[in-house]
Amino acid sequence: MTGHWASRPGIRNLTLGIMLALVLMVLASSVVNAHAATGQPKDQAKKYKGAGTTSNLRNIVIGRCYHYMSLYPGIGDKNCTDVWQELLDAVQRKDPCKVAEEDYKRLSLVAAQTIPCNKTLLWSRTNDLVHRYTKATEKFITLEDTFLGFVFNGLMWCGKPLRPGMNFKSCPAWNECDKNSISSFWKMASAAFARESCGVVNVMLNGSADGDIARKESILRTVEVPNMDPTRVSEVKVWVIDDIQGEDKNSCDSKTLLELKDYIEGHKLQYSCIDNYRPVQALQCADNPDHAACNRCNYQ
Ligand code: APR
Repeated sequence: MTGHWASRPGIRNLTLGIMLALVLMVLASSVVNAHAATGQPKDQAKKYKGAGTTSNLRNIVIGRCYHYMSLYPGIGDKNCTDVWQELLDAVQRKDPCKVAEEDYKRLSLVAAQTIPCNKTLLWSRTNDLVHRYTKATEKFITLEDTFLGFVFNGLMWCGKPLRPGMNFKSCPAWNECDKNSISSFWKMASAAFARESCGVVNVMLNGSADGDIARKESILRTVEVPNMDPTRVSEVKVWVIDDIQGEDKNSCDSKTLLELKDYIEGHKLQYSCIDNYRPVQALQCADNPDHAACNRCNYQ
């Protein structure tokens, strides 16, 4: 015996048509809801100005974490999988322009590290020279030599609103929006580094750069100076280093340095300044041995 579906083709087609229409309505409404919730078509993520999440991010983060522990066993045991998971939890399912420093709180806890007194070296506009210097002497520690700085330096990452995982296509550039996944991370890491610093804190600045010696919106001014504890930091010692081949645009007695002095002292921190700190100039001289400034008799 055949059922009534087979015996009444007109009714069957009508019923199939109604069911198809219902299925299409349900599908259309879920797409509309997805648009409403994310502001984006479901399969068409927003395009940001920065590069997407670094390929193989998970492996790089976990690999660098183990590498750091092998270089600096004093840091103790870090759970590298936890470090990755905390990074992922801080950004996934979130709008990459709505990631706050506080979202990295748990990551900062698993990455916590003690910074020995008198070792901190902050910097502004001297990215290349400061890291050549710390590699050459190993006497100072920059943010990039700390656990968080080492593991995440040069990497890019962001999540996707309401969806798990990372966005490998594009992420917000540094200034594209206020609270983005990258700038908030570096602000959190810089604040933690400054808070942990004690004793004499050194700062390498570029005496040959145009304009303010440290930009008004620089991390040094906006994050690191305000987060130093005046009861634990005995002095902020600024080194103004000119490019050996460049102009001497700013020195300790320049207006921009005096203004920075006021700013630092305004945070109840002691200030001192030195022009062309000799150990750094010696490093510059390794590449420019014949330069007049490298003549031993000219050293201050
Ligand atoms: N746009 C793009 N990148 C930026 C921006 C910005 N507006 N601001 C900061 N950065 C990132 C870049 O990666 C850049 O190379 O910070 C780096 C340094 O910027 P600088 O103006 O040279 O210095 P500053 O903002 O003071 O940051 C350096 O913060 O990273 C910590 O401990 C570190 O003391 C150091 C300071």
